[in-house]
Amino acid sequence: MTEIKKSIHGEWSSRFAFILAATGSAVGLGNIWKFPYITGENGGGAFVLVYLLCVALIGIPIMIAETLMGRRGRQSPINTMQSLARDAGADESWHYLGWIGVITGFLILSYYSVIAGWAMSYVFKSLSGSFSGEGVDHIAKLFDAFIASPMQLIFWHSLFMMATMDVVVRGVQGGLEKAVRFLMPSLFALLLVMVGYAMSTDAYQQGLDFMFNPDFSKIDGHSILTAMGHAFFTLSLGMGAIMVYGSYLPKHVSIAKTSFIVAGADTAVALLAGIAIFPIVFANNLEPSSGPGLIFQTLPIAFGQMTGGLIFGTLFFILLVFAALSSSISLIEPAVAWLVENHNVSRNKACTWAGLATWLLGLGTVFSFNLWSDFKLFDRTVFDLLDYLTANLLLPIGGFFVAVFAGWIMLRRHSEEELEMQYDAGYWLWRFLVRYVSPAAVFLVFLNVVGVLSV
Ligand code: TRP
Repeated sequence: MTEIKKSIHGEWSSRFAFILAATGSAVGLGNIWKFPYITGENGGGAFVLVYLLCVALIGIPIMIAETLMGRRGRQSPINTMQSLARDAGADESWHYLGWIGVITGFLILSYYSVIAGWAMSYVFKSLSGSFSGEGVDHIAKLFDAFIASPMQLIFWHSLFMMATMDVVVRGVQGGLEKAVRFLMPSLFALLLVMVGYAMSTDAYQQGLDFMFNPDFSKIDGHSILTAMGHAFFTLSLGMGAIMVYGSYLPKHVSIAKTSFIVAGADTAVALLAGIAIFPIVFANNLEPSSGPGLIFQTLPIAFGQMTGGLIFGTLFFILLVFAALSSSISLIEPAVAWLVENHNVSRNKACTWAGLATWLLGLGTVFSFNLWSDFKLFDRTVFDLLDYLTANLLLPIGGFFVAVFAGWIMLRRHSEEELEMQYDAGYWLWRFLVRYVSPAAVFLVFLNVVGVLSV
């Protein structure tokens, strides 16, 4: 198939628009909320190092693979996989990979939206001066009381889901492109302000040491799996989000270059968030391993004490909400695109149904922080379970098969055409990584965690 196909859903207006959208998808709660708390739970430096290795050796090659497969297929991940498999003369059951992605996105969004709701409510808490001059105890109580209230969590979760679906309804170029153009740079600037504050605490060096001094005795097979899972999560890989964004990418935009930019920006934001947060943690004698509440229990202390904290705090949480929004839309876009393609429904209807289903499942996460906090399956609450299942299992499995498909199944000629680099050392390196290194790494991490290897 050599004719240039276009997606029926539209196209990004430029290379820059794609970079913004993909960076918008990658940079989100994963960087600012999740990365610091899992780094805290897994002992710091060594975990960060494993995460960075995973980004370089697994993440970037798979990001390139997903983007080029999307642009080649030009449809929702399910239909893209089907048509790519057909082109390669391979079995059409490859389209199940698209299905796993749609389901994974739906599961992730269900809890992502609840946490984004927390950030939304913190915009108003900050604005109303709830943090002003307050110390550790008050801020912790504020957070505990908040998550203990199902009604409040449902309210904000509903609001965030509505905002997400509202953007998705407008389609590819409509609201989103415009919003991220301004929001992503502002978020970056505000993070620098926070890093500035962190530098002014006496625990700055301690925070840096925690993040960058690897102590390998602190990690085990499970931390390695968490680090790898997070590399997928933070780069939005393994479920078709980047594939569907790739399907809206104009021809002749360099996929390798854009992938480096997106992964670089994403990593920078995560590291900056860590550098901003850990000094505050140590300066206030907080536990780095206190879990999902970490940023909600630390940053408000800083905002409460710094000059202009009311404004900075409010702005920070606003930007966090927008970072979450530009991620959440990519979690549901594969499902919406598929509904429109295969069920002949309008974008509007597709959004309504997909949004309602996600909202409903999100209630499970809401209750896992209060009414059902004692209900555990495999020793995990509903939220923990969803997070573990998606980030540590489904995304790496999805990514593994993306790598295998791009490296072994797809016609070499096709990937060369998409990357526009036939006889290039870069192409050779990418192909080597995607054929051998990335799949083997995912596989070894899994083996290690079930105890077959002992690292
Ligand atoms: N990467 C986003 C974050 O770090 C979350 C996200 C958006 C995502 N789309 C995804 C995660 C697709 C996995 C797959 O917050």
